[in-house]
This record gives sequence, structure tokens and C-alpha cells, in this order.
Amino acid sequence: MTFPVTADAPVSEREALSAHVWPATARLVDGELHVAGLPVSELAGEHGTPTFFLDEQDFRERAKRFVSAFRQAFSPLGVEVDVYYAGKSFLSVAVARWAHEEGLRIDTASGGELAVAERAGIAGEDIGLHGNNKSDAEIRRAISGRVGRIVIDSLDEIEQIVACATSLGRGAQDPVPVMVRVTTGIHAGGHDFIATAREDQKFGLSLAGGTALEALSRVLDHPELHLLGAHAHIGSQIQDATAFELNARKMLTLRADLHAQRDYLMPELDLGGGYGIAYTPSETPIDVPDLAQRLADTIAGVAKELNTSVPRLSIEPGRSVVGPAMITVYRVGVVKPVVTEEGFTRLYVSVDGGMSDNIRPALYGAQYTARLANRAGDSAGALARVVGKHCESGDIILDEVIMPADIRRGDLIAVAATGAYNRSMASNYNNLLRPPVVAVRDGVARVIVRRETEDDLLATDCG
Ligand code: LLP
Repeated sequence: MTFPVTADAPVSEREALSAHVWPATARLVDGELHVAGLPVSELAGEHGTPTFFLDEQDFRERAKRFVSAFRQAFSPLGVEVDVYYAGKSFLSVAVARWAHEEGLRIDTASGGELAVAERAGIAGEDIGLHGNNKSDAEIRRAISGRVGRIVIDSLDEIEQIVACATSLGRGAQDPVPVMVRVTTGIHAGGHDFIATAREDQKFGLSLAGGTALEALSRVLDHPELHLLGAHAHIGSQIQDATAFELNARKMLTLRADLHAQRDYLMPELDLGGGYGIAYTPSETPIDVPDLAQRLADTIAGVAKELNTSVPRLSIEPGRSVVGPAMITVYRVGVVKPVVTEEGFTRLYVSVDGGMSDNIRPALYGAQYTARLANRAGDSAGALARVVGKHCESGDIILDEVIMPADIRRGDLIAVAATGAYNRSMASNYNNLLRPPVVAVRDGVARVIVRRETEDDLLATDCG
């Protein structure tokens, strides 16, 4: 490793805020980070640490951008595009409402996510339900709540849904709207764990192996079900638009094949989520309007080739809506210089959270951007490792980062782009209390998910 212990330029100059990485309203004022006009020291003072701060305006803008970009690209083709916010990335009642207010529907992947969407007052028809192993209770809840689509993930599930529908008195006169999840064999995205459409994994039905077509055909044999279309989510944190285009081509071909075989033209295709964001300044987020246009051109071209109409389209962005809009603010505790085996000094900066509020570095080797947030700090930089407070040496939030050499107990560290899959994957490891989510907008902070208490922890402990 060749990291210098100190660097020449002041840390504050080297680490000016990268617009793609930090929330849209993030600013440096005299070296202190502000979000939505609020200094982080004030926010941390009022709400404690660690806390997730969510830039509401940024979230809304990002949500709106998906809707407008896709509508603009697809309206010349005469088709609608529905944008579903993937709730697994981060879902709360407030966020579900914001997404809905900006014209998005809500994609859920469990009974719990469905419950949050329902609590937010989202109409069933604007909700989708996913899951590779849905329980009868989840399916029944979705059917009773008149969810707009249940995405079938296995051949078994066809019979399971039919049985649930029948038991709830639903039949051919009022069929349950469904889609079939297809694995198109495209291996895209970041870590292997989040690439979801290659063949050898648990999701969906294989296009190449023929089970996708078989499932679609079987659904058509059940009058209790209404086949809306096919669905393919190819992975997450994808930076390359080509993978989405390829996916669209495969799905249109599948649609044409079913048409040829069963004389049924599916009205809709869902291409899932997966749009990549920038976690570090060197990464480039996917350009949403450009992607929308490329997809529209591809879909129009392939539909023409296949001599078929252009279907209604839906997409399911999660990370790209909420990821960059949120930051985590931690309070620094112990700062410990450790001499490495290579002979240089690494500053271990311990913060008051860790892998329980951000498991992504440990799980995927995810990289983040962080900075001293409450002040500019010393001009000299030190090689630091930002670690949490858990009883694990792998409890690392940033493996290698230059921090001002005078970073000390009581300082605040902000980590950027923690909106997606951080709070939603948070745990109570070591019985830590999961942090709150505080929405900030126009100089006002509002708690949308409160901090857990010890009473919350003990509420499930039966003694
Ligand atoms: N639709 C479906 C069917 C999905 O499975 C997912 C994500 C999405 C949409 C939203 O994908 P996004 O736009 O957020 O990339 N925990 C991992 C990510 C898992 C993604 C699971 N599915 C991570 O922290 O990177």
C-alpha cells in the first residue's frame, strides 16, 4: 500500500463536495457540512448520532426525474411508463407518500413492506408485490388489498395464488392481476449477490431453459389470473445501459414467442430497477434521460423487427431514487493510531454506529465517501480507517480514507449516499438501537423514523 501519512493540499480543498455523491442541497459553509440549509452540528445536537438525514427535496426530484424522463422518451411511441419505487431500498410511510405524490407507484417485496405502503394510504392498484417465496398470508393480503400486480416467481406459485384467490372468492369474473418474473440470463451489476437475472440463482423463471414461457402459458390456463406481462430485474448498481437494452430485447422476444404460441400479446413488460449511482467521486451515475431514450429507441426498433406493438412499460428504481439523497452522521469516539505491518500509521477512527447501520462494506466490499462534517479540520491529512463500535474487526465503514490529521473525539463524520439498503438492512447486532431517519427540507428537520429505544429492543424479549 502506498498511501501517504500526510497529503500536501488541505483536506477541505481536496475533498470539495462532489455533486453526484452528496445530496443536492449539501453545501460546505466555512468547512461545515450543511444539508437543506441546516448545519450538521445543529442536526446532530438535536437528533443525536448516528442518524440518517434524508434530503426530501432531492428524493422528490430524483423520483420525478424518472417519471418525466421515461414519459418523455416513451410518449412518442404511444405507451405509458409506470415507475415503481422499490421499497426494499428504503421504505417508510413518509417516503412512500412522497414517491406517490411524485407520480410513482410502490414496489414491495414482503408483507411488511406491503403494510408500510398500505399505512401510507397507497391504493392497492398502485402497489406491486414481489418475492421468491411468498407466504399464503402475504399473497392473501395482496389479493384482499387489490394489489395491482403480484409478480410470480416460480411454477409452484401459480397454483398457490390460484388457491388463495379461490379461497377469497376471486374467480374468472374478477381475476387477480399477475406478472411472471423471468431470468433473462444477463449478468449485470455490482457484487455477485446483487446480480439477479443470471441463470444459477434463486429468482425468477429461466428464459433459456423454457420455464418462463411455460409459466406464462400456464398462467393463461387459469381464468382466476390475469396475465399483465413479464418482469425481469437484472441486478443492481448497474452503470452500463447496454445491459438494460439487451434485457428489453430478450423480453420483447419472449412476448412475441408467447403471442405466437398462445395468441396472447402481453400488454406490459417490467424491466425492474438496478440503475447505478455514484458512491465515490470517480463513479458516474447512470444518466436517466439518456437511458430512457436508449431504451425507447431499442424497444421501438425491436418491436418493429418482431412486427409487434410496443408494450406498456414499467420500471422499479430504488437505489437511484433514495441512495444519494441520504447521509449518515456519526459522532467520533476513540481515535487510535496503529502502526501497520508495512510501517505506516493508520488512524482508526471509531464512530458510534457501524455494521448495524451499514452492512454493505462488510457484505459487498462497498465503497463510500465520507468527510469530517462539523469543521474544516487540519490542512494535513492522515490515512484513516473509519470503523464502528461492534465486536467484529470487520466492522469497517471506510477502509481507506484521508481525514484531517487533527480529527478527534466529538467530531462528526458524514458518510454520503447511504439512502439505499443501509437503514433498510440495519440490524440490532450487539443490541445497538437502529438509528432514526430525519427528513430535512428548506431549513426544517422532521423525524420520519424515530430512533429505537431499549424498550423497543426488550419489547420482543419474553423473559
Ligand atoms: N426490482 C426488483 C425486483 C429488485 O429485486 C430490486 C432490488 C429492485 C427492483 C431495485 O433495485 P435498485 O434500483 O435499488 O438497484 N442489498 C443490495 C441490493 C439488493 C437489490 C435487491 N433488489 C445492496 O445493498 O446493494
